[in-house]
Amino acid sequence: MKSLTFAVIALFQFLTIPHSFADTSRGAKLESDNCSACHAARFNGDSSAIYLREHRRVNNRNQLISQVKFCKNSLGLVWFDEQVMDVVEHLNKRYYQFDTSK
Ligand code: HEC
Repeated sequence: MKSLTFAVIALFQFLTIPHSFADTSRGAKLESDNCSACHAARFNGDSSAIYLREHRRVNNRNQLISQVKFCKNSLGLVWFDEQVMDVVEHLNKRYYQFDTSK
């Protein structure tokens, strides 16, 4: 009975607590393979600076998703939505830190 209670609680938490299934390490690799060189070239070799600059373009999670799609489309990259979200979550975790529950 006790284990059933735990199972029900675990299931309830699984369904109610917001979480992300994105693979941020895969996102980090996609970003470093496809994106960072161009960004670094514009910021004296610092590939992080574009995400951390004072007047950055991206100010919320939806803008981040749009910008990742925009940059990847302009490169002609064909990514699954999961790959887009891996990069979004990687950038969010490392730089932007927007609330992911929204
Ligand atoms: C050929 C150059 C180039 C490549 C490659 C590139 N970007 Fe960008 N990216 C830019 C430029 C230029 C800007 C800044 C645009 C501006 O300031 O108006 C930018 C801005 C961004 C921003 C917004 C930064 C901010 O100000 O908050 C994100 C996020 C971003 N790029 C993601 C990506 C991702 C993800 C990829 C790889 C799929 C990528 N970019 C590849 C040129 C590039």
